[in-house]
Amino acid sequence: MRTVFWQNNHVRMIDQKRIPWEFSLVDLYDYAAVAESIRDMTVRGAPAIGATAAFGMALAARASKATTVEGVRDDLSAAGDILKQSRPTAVNLMWAVDRLIAHAAAYQAADAEDLKAEMLRAAQQIADDDVATNKRIGQVGAALIKDGDTVLHHCNTGALAAVDYGTALGVIRTAWEQGKRFHVLLDETRPRLQGARLSAWELEQLGISYDIIPDTASGFYMRRGEVKLVLLGADRIAGNGDFANKIGTYQVGVLAKENGIPFYTVAPISTVDLSLSSGDDIPIEERDKSEVLAPFGNAIAPAHYHARNPAFDVTPASYLSGIITENGIVRAPFEVNLPRAAAGEQV
Ligand code: MRU
Repeated sequence: MRTVFWQNNHVRMIDQKRIPWEFSLVDLYDYAAVAESIRDMTVRGAPAIGATAAFGMALAARASKATTVEGVRDDLSAAGDILKQSRPTAVNLMWAVDRLIAHAAAYQAADAEDLKAEMLRAAQQIADDDVATNKRIGQVGAALIKDGDTVLHHCNTGALAAVDYGTALGVIRTAWEQGKRFHVLLDETRPRLQGARLSAWELEQLGISYDIIPDTASGFYMRRGEVKLVLLGADRIAGNGDFANKIGTYQVGVLAKENGIPFYTVAPISTVDLSLSSGDDIPIEERDKSEVLAPFGNAIAPAHYHARNPAFDVTPASYLSGIITENGIVRAPFEVNLPRAAAGEQV
């Protein structure tokens, strides 16, 4: 089943807040509810929230009372503003909304109803493209994994983080499906535990060998020489190759370099933001301190204690061995090679 999809004129998604304890679906009937589902992380992961926002735009078009093409475009623009505010860091969200707004502007609609229907087709296309893109990424990256390797992974970048298949975990899945046998260390990924809850749930189902480790243990295994490769995702990649990803990624990158371990981010081209020349310009989400003090309602410190909760960090491109995309593995100099890959060139 896809993470998010359109069914009977509304949006359905897997409730990622409940996995692994419960598998349930959520039904959403308006774009404001879609924005909330992104904000509260019912759906999360950069490509997944991009596709979700696209379906949110289709809902907005459907709900529009406008009788003119111009009126529908205005309603789409207002809905897009709300959707874009739901989470700030993953650029796939802005990318999907902007793509639909640009398509609404360019599409030669016969009338308002035609444009509304076209918005659903375009959203569906974004979702379908995401699956195809991830499968290509898997093929590109799988060559890096060898029999007997131990691969370290951070957060969740699997089918749940995308429409299906996933990015870094998609590479791992492809290599496994090719018959390679290796082991995966999953950082638990505090405070929301995407590694322990979601990545482990996915690898369980795929039958891929794994262990969940505390985030604080990855350096221990790297220094012992057990980790041969690090694969993880990205929420936004700046033009110079600096990238934002789940909090904790930066320290993994530093430790990988210190220990001479190849360190790759895996992402579709829709995660590349060439409008930013450096990772310092990427907006970083700060979430509520309750996620740190009481993860999933289990208090580990009194609620009035002080805490900070950055959801992402930025890893400088100098730590990267490469960026695995559907257009090949992009390597330094990223300022030169990222624009080529983003333009569709195979690198
Ligand atoms: O806060 P999340 O769970 O949305 O963060 C997700 C990540 O940081 C992923 O690594 C990233 O979105 C890539 S998912 C293919």
